[in-house]
Amino acid sequence: MGWLTELVEERGGEALDLHAQTINPQFVRLLRTIGFDRPWARAEGAYLWDVDGNRYLDVLGGFGMFNVGRNNPRIREAIVEALELERPGSVQLGVDSLPALLAEDLLRRAPGSLERVLFTSSGAESVEAAIKLGRAATGRSRVFSAEHGFHGLTLGALSATSASEFTTRFGPLLPGFEKVPWDDLDGLQQQLSAEDVALFIVEPVQGKGVNIPSQGYLEGAQELCRRYGTLFCVDEVQTGFGRTGRLLALEHWGLEPDLVTVAKSLSGGYVPVGALLMSSAVYDGVFDSLPNAVSHGSTFAPNDLAMVAGLATLRELDAQGLVGRGARLGELLLERTRPLVERYELVREVRGLGLMWAIELGPPTGRAGRALWRTVEARQPGLFAQLVAVPLFHDHHILIQVAGHAMNVVKAIPPLVISDDEIERFATALDDVVGRAERRLFSSTARVTLSLGRRALRA
Ligand SMILES: Cc1ncc(COP(=O)(O)O)c(C=O)c1O
Repeated sequence: MGWLTELVEERGGEALDLHAQTINPQFVRLLRTIGFDRPWARAEGAYLWDVDGNRYLDVLGGFGMFNVGRNNPRIREAIVEALELERPGSVQLGVDSLPALLAEDLLRRAPGSLERVLFTSSGAESVEAAIKLGRAATGRSRVFSAEHGFHGLTLGALSATSASEFTTRFGPLLPGFEKVPWDDLDGLQQQLSAEDVALFIVEPVQGKGVNIPSQGYLEGAQELCRRYGTLFCVDEVQTGFGRTGRLLALEHWGLEPDLVTVAKSLSGGYVPVGALLMSSAVYDGVFDSLPNAVSHGSTFAPNDLAMVAGLATLRELDAQGLVGRGARLGELLLERTRPLVERYELVREVRGLGLMWAIELGPPTGRAGRALWRTVEARQPGLFAQLVAVPLFHDHHILIQVAGHAMNVVKAIPPLVISDDEIERFATALDDVVGRAERRLFSSTARVTLSLGRRALRA
C-alpha cells in the first residue's frame, strides 16, 4: 500500500473539519446548514458514494466538468501512459507534438472560421485571453456581454459577468465593459453601431438560469458583429463537448465565430485545461512579429497531462457516442419532466437543450398562494428552489444545483454517461419533491387564508 492510500484511509474522514480549519470554514458551515456535509468516499460515472456506502446520482456533474463520467478509466489510462512515457513537455523554449495534436483535433471539429488555438488552464483564463487578444486584434477597448451571463471570476472575466453577488465588493472592475440585454438584437445593434467595440462575448445557452436563445438571436448577433467590425466570441466553457447534444452548442445555429472559449469537460475532469480557438485574423492581429511571438500564454497551460487528457476525452466522446447520447437523453428528460408544468401550479417552465436542463418555479395562480410566495421570496429569494434541491439530495440521493443566486431555477448538467433508467428515476424524484413543495405552500396558504378569514369574522 502506497503512502497516498494510507493517508487517505487514515485522514479521509476528516475532510470537513480539515477543510474548515485550513481552507474555507464558511463553506463548510454552508454545507452543514443545508445538510450537504456528506463525507465522500468514491466516484464513478454519474455516481458518488458516501462513506456509509450510500450511492448518489450526480446531476451537478462537477459544474459541468464530467461529461465523460467521473473517473473515466480510458482517460485515466491515457494519463498514466503519458506519465510513463516521460515525454519532453513544457520545454518552453521549444515545442512538442502533443499540444499541436490536441489543437489539430479541436480545430478539425470546430467551425472553419477558427484556425489557431491558445491553451489555458481554466474557463476564466480562456475568457481573459479572448478579451486581451480581441482588444489587441481590433485596436478597440470596449467589451460587450449579455445580461445574466457568466464568464468566470478573474477580474477580466468578472467584468464581463453580470452576477452582482460576485461583482460587488471587488470593484472597480475593468473599464470599457458593458452589458446588453440577453436575447435582444436591437439593443446590441445600437451599441455595436458606434464601431468601437472589440468583442461581444456570449454563452450559446446561459449557464446561470439555463436561458436558451430565441431562434435567430445568435445568428443575428454574429451578423451584427461582422457588420460593425466587432469580434464575435462564443463562450462554450459550459456548453462544450456534448453538453447540449452537439459537440459545440454553436452547431445548433451554424455559427462561425471569431473566438470560442472552452475548458471544463475537455480534460474529462482529471486535469485543468482550457483553450481559446481563434480565427487567423485574430491571431495575425496579435502575434504579428518576432517580438510579439509570445504576447500571451501561461507557464503550465499546454502541459502534457492536460493535452493527453484532452486528446483522450475527444476520443472517448467519439468512441462512446456521447454527444448523440446526450441529445437523446436530453429529449427523454424533457419528455418526462415537461408534464410537471401542467401538473403543478408552482412550475413555470421546464426547458433544456441536450443534457443542459432546468426547471423554473414561479408563484401559483391563486391570490392567497401568490401573496405567500411573495412574502417568502421577500424574506429569502430563491427559497423555493432550495425546497426542491435539498429534498432531492436527502430523500432521493440526487446531487443537484440551484441555477444561480436568488433564483427559483434548479438545473441539471449530469455526466453524459447517465442511463435512461436514471433519467426516469430523476424525473420521478422531481415529481415527488415539487409535489411536496407545492403541498407545503398550499397548506401554509390555507392556514393564512383561514386565519385571515377568522380575523375578518371577528372584525
Ligand atoms: C460559460 C462559462 N464561462 C466561463 C466559466 C469559468 O470557468 P472556470 O470556472 O473554469 O474558470 C464558466 C464556469 O462556470 C462558465 O460556465
